[in-house]
Amino acid sequence: MDYRKAFEEIVSQQLARVERLKKDTEAVDYKKLDCIRIGIIGGDGIGPAITAHAQRILEELLKEPVKAGKVEFKVIDGLTIENRAACGKAIPDDVMEEIKSCHVLLKGPTTTPRKGDKWGNIESANVAMRKALDLFANVRPVKIPEDDIDWTFFRENTECLYAMGSQGVDISDDLAIDFRVITNPGTERIARQAFEYAKNNGKTRVSIVTKANIVKKTDGKFLEVCKKVAEDYPGIEVDDWYIDIMTAKLIDPKRRSQFQVLILPNLYGDILTDEAAEFQGGVGTAGSANIGNRYAMFEAIHGSAPRMVEEGREMYADPSSVIRAAAMLLSHIGYQKESDQLAKALDICTVTEKKIQITGKPDGATGAQLADYILETIRSLSL
Ligand code: IPM
Ligand code: MG
Repeated sequence: MDYRKAFEEIVSQQLARVERLKKDTEAVDYKKLDCIRIGIIGGDGIGPAITAHAQRILEELLKEPVKAGKVEFKVIDGLTIENRAACGKAIPDDVMEEIKSCHVLLKGPTTTPRKGDKWGNIESANVAMRKALDLFANVRPVKIPEDDIDWTFFRENTECLYAMGSQGVDISDDLAIDFRVITNPGTERIARQAFEYAKNNGKTRVSIVTKANIVKKTDGKFLEVCKKVAEDYPGIEVDDWYIDIMTAKLIDPKRRSQFQVLILPNLYGDILTDEAAEFQGGVGTAGSANIGNRYAMFEAIHGSAPRMVEEGREMYADPSSVIRAAAMLLSHIGYQKESDQLAKALDICTVTEKKIQITGKPDGATGAQLADYILETIRSLSL
């Protein structure tokens, strides 16, 4: 393809998108819905196994609203790498239709094809879903009480290098160019989410993370728009950091407990949240919310671990991450009490009491045993 044409196309696509974003400012109010439909997407590898445990816990916690017809579940199959590769689409059309018939989604991991592997050049299902449902805020909490760490990352989820990740251009055999997109409305909405969260949760400090000294246009814009939004929140202290030094400061014991809420463009957020989750016990322990105005999707942040399935070990896979995601889902749709119960039970079962241990192998507990333990703990908490 002529690269000038390719660039022109990208520019007009993004200009149209900016206009759409400017108009789309109204968020769904779950209280006004007659029935909230929760889609359960197993995904690939260990996904269906661990997601089933989270579903069982959600069904138990939402027993009453389900009986009253206020909540319903829908299991969505077909978001597997085999099916996606066969259709040549990141999300096959029929699966997308089912997804869009739900209000919120709980999703297991989906395999991301890599350049040159057997699945061909299809876009990541994660990225495609974030874009198609416009899930612009990727909210990732990390808590380590004994180190006084309580961070909430607000990673922008639809722009930066991810926006055009599959639309880069090979200019010649020797030259490839990718495109990075940052927009005013796209930055403003993630910044508002972060500041609103800070305001509503008693947080006193928000840190903006960029590399605006080097990436002057896009990161420059991100920083400028975040600072503008900050003016509406005079009670909150705001600082800005470059991503390299922030990566270092997250391991500085004197500094790290001072961070509270962090806002980042997509790729820096992707990287920093893996680092942060590692301190808490690894990506297997962290949950992640992907929030848009119309839809929201909650997911495990780890991969699909195909090797565990090949070796017949999926029943030993740790479901904590997707169960954490389920707790975030409950809070998002207005079931705060149930969300708190589940989060507390998770802390007891996987951090403080930890009567059973998951190792990923037959010498450890199964995911089903952990789910039973969590359910028992929830019951004992409500006595
Ligand atoms: C994440 C993951 C995804 C991302 C991958 C699986 C596409 O790393 O959710 O952080 O890069 O966003
Ligand atoms: Mg990641």
